Order: sequence, then structure tokens, then C-alpha cells
Amino acid sequence: MKERTLSIIKPDGVRKGLIGEVIRRFEKEGLKIVAMKMVRLDKEEAEGFYAVHRGKPFFESLTTFMSSGPIVVMVLEGEKAIERNRQIMGATDPQQAEEGTIRRMYADNIQENIVHGSDAPETATFEISYFFSSLEIV
Ligand code: CMP
Repeated sequence: MKERTLSIIKPDGVRKGLIGEVIRRFEKEGLKIVAMKMVRLDKEEAEGFYAVHRGKPFFESLTTFMSSGPIVVMVLEGEKAIERNRQIMGATDPQQAEEGTIRRMYADNIQENIVHGSDAPETATFEISYFFSSLEIV
């Protein structure tokens, strides 16, 4: 079944010049980009996006990091898009991520881990609607 998932190239990914590399991976894997834009979140917007993590020890620094520079947000579409995107990214902690994954290759640490991807259909729906109206998804 075709699914949609939200992908974010985080501020560290943009700063490191990895926008093209991340997009290339998605396209190579046959994930179709059906919406894309560059935005800069303020602190409150980052807190709203990561609201499920409110109260966790890393919430403050995560939302400061996510509002520290521009990000690229994309909607990816394809068969099992959520799971396939997670495989391309690798585990949250780059030290645990499989060889060849984006996080293993490029991430500095568990927080600054280059990319974000939705982890389930319900979160994908919330996360896509956080950034895109239905008119912006082609
Ligand atoms: P992401 O996939 O965007 O989902 C939540 C984010 O919180 C995660 O990637 C990391 O950037 C960050 N994160 C998760 N766990 C930790 C942790 N233990 N310490 C610091 N940051 C974390």
C-alpha cells in the first residue's frame, strides 16, 4: 500500500551541504518527493512539532537545535514509505546505525542526526499537516 511520510533535513544537514545527497538517496530508492520546502522554525514551532517529547531530558536542547537554522521538509510517497525512509536514515543514534545509512555516514551525535522521519502512519499524518496544506502536496 502506498504511504506518505514526512522527512526533514535538519539544520546540521543543511549546514553540512547534504541536501542534495539526502534527496539523491530518496530518489535512488524510488521514494517520490510529492512536496518540498525550506523553512526556519522558531523555538515555539519546534516545540509544537516535537510535542510528544515534551518533558524528556533532551527536549530543550533538541528544540533549540531544530530552530538554529533552516531545514528542508519533504513529503515522500511510495510503498512502505515510512519504513523504507527509516532504513535509509538508520537508527537515531549514529553509533547504532547500520553501515551506509545517512546517520551512520554523516551524523555527529544522537541529537544532531541530519534527518528526521515519521515513525508511524498516525505521526506521519500529524507531521505532514504541520508543514503542508493539501494544496501543497502534488
Ligand atoms: P528524531 O528522529 O527527529 O526524533 C526525535 C529527536 O530527538 C531525535 O531524532 C534526536 O534528534 C533527538 N533525540 C532522541 N533521543 C535523544 C537523546 N537521548 N539525546 C538527545 N537527543 C535525542
